[in-house]
Amino acid sequence: MDLSKLRINGARLRTSLEEMAKIGATPNGGVQRLTLSDEDKRARDLFVKWLKEIDLAVTIDEMGNIFGRRPGTEDNLPPVMSGSHVDSQPKGGRFDGILGVMGALEVMRTLHENKVKTRHPMMIVDWTNEEGSRFAPAMVSSGVWAGVLERDYAYGRTDINGKKFGEELVRIGYKGPAPAAKWPVHAYYEYHIEQGPMLEGQKKTIGAPKGILCLHWYDIYLTGEANQVGPTPMEGRHDALCAAAEMILATNRLPDRMGGNIVATVGEIQNKPNSRNIIPDGVHFTVDIRSWDDDHAIKAWEHLKIDLQEIAARRGTPIRIDETWRCPHAPFAERLVQRVLDTAGELGYSSLHMVSGAGHDASYMNQVCPTAMIFVPSIGGRSHVEVENTAWSDCEAGANVLLHCLLKTADEH
Ligand code: GLV
Ligand code: MN
Ligand code: MN
Repeated sequence: MDLSKLRINGARLRTSLEEMAKIGATPNGGVQRLTLSDEDKRARDLFVKWLKEIDLAVTIDEMGNIFGRRPGTEDNLPPVMSGSHVDSQPKGGRFDGILGVMGALEVMRTLHENKVKTRHPMMIVDWTNEEGSRFAPAMVSSGVWAGVLERDYAYGRTDINGKKFGEELVRIGYKGPAPAAKWPVHAYYEYHIEQGPMLEGQKKTIGAPKGILCLHWYDIYLTGEANQVGPTPMEGRHDALCAAAEMILATNRLPDRMGGNIVATVGEIQNKPNSRNIIPDGVHFTVDIRSWDDDHAIKAWEHLKIDLQEIAARRGTPIRIDETWRCPHAPFAERLVQRVLDTAGELGYSSLHMVSGAGHDASYMNQVCPTAMIFVPSIGGRSHVEVENTAWSDCEAGANVLLHCLLKTADEH
């Protein structure tokens, strides 16, 4: 058969995405499938069932990463891999992560039903805890698999209720027997929604990022002095929330101060005891700094850190700072990025060479093997929200680009 004519089944891809979107569906059309939750387990169970239906050999490793392997005609060659994640943000969308997993599954189904043989074996993967929202940091399981993060460090991470990653992994039945340790990989492609406004703004169908920004995460803990809000004079208060408020605005101003090329965000905050008539005495908040330039991001942090310490000292709210995670920027393999652009052109889709501001497991895979990503437009540039949406025709287009990138790469010598 002329493989250049081969196409994935867009209707089947849509049905798979719709089935997955029922797991953890939220009232406003999104999904909440936090990592290692009951919903994550249900999505994994369905995914594994679908892998087995097309005769893929399923392996689950000690981080709960799920792999499905399709043999190659030269089966001892390193596999070509593709996948993403099935976990979501709280009140997240129906496409982030799951599109890359269902897209790769749709490619595998297409190869299976057409009895296509490839030289290299092919593997599909669902990485555990890409989001890092329940357990920081993000992309932790591709990080362990790649040999960058420690397994026991990951197991010991706790969520806001004190539950441990390792215990939750066992609880949902996905602590597998295989070691979470990299093997030689020929190439990795991750298919994903863009999560930003560029493709839609420029009316392009396919995005080929040249790489991913660095992600630097910090956790800030402030201690104040609680007291009755009525009788306590304004002078002399040690209000941890007011200190945090100043710090949040300092974070928001940081990119301007650094002359751009950076984004900085406080996205999560806990305030104690969180009562309207008690002066807050304990605040935790997060800082997320991203840039293409790691040194620039670190320099920005050094400036911000001094500001945070100054604010804490002035307000009498002792500060503890954890430098939680630094994932360096990931410049992808130019040959594969070009292949994504070329393949889009061959299939008749417009394309854009761009950059990924969102983090992806492709960042850690980039440290293991040649890596690239395929993006499709996010309607309104919205993501990590319930209204996150992508046209079905674009979902199909991206999966066709993935199919042909994988076919070309899996036949390489
Ligand atoms: C992952 O979703 C990230 O970009 O934070
Ligand atoms: Mn994602
Ligand atoms: Mn995400």
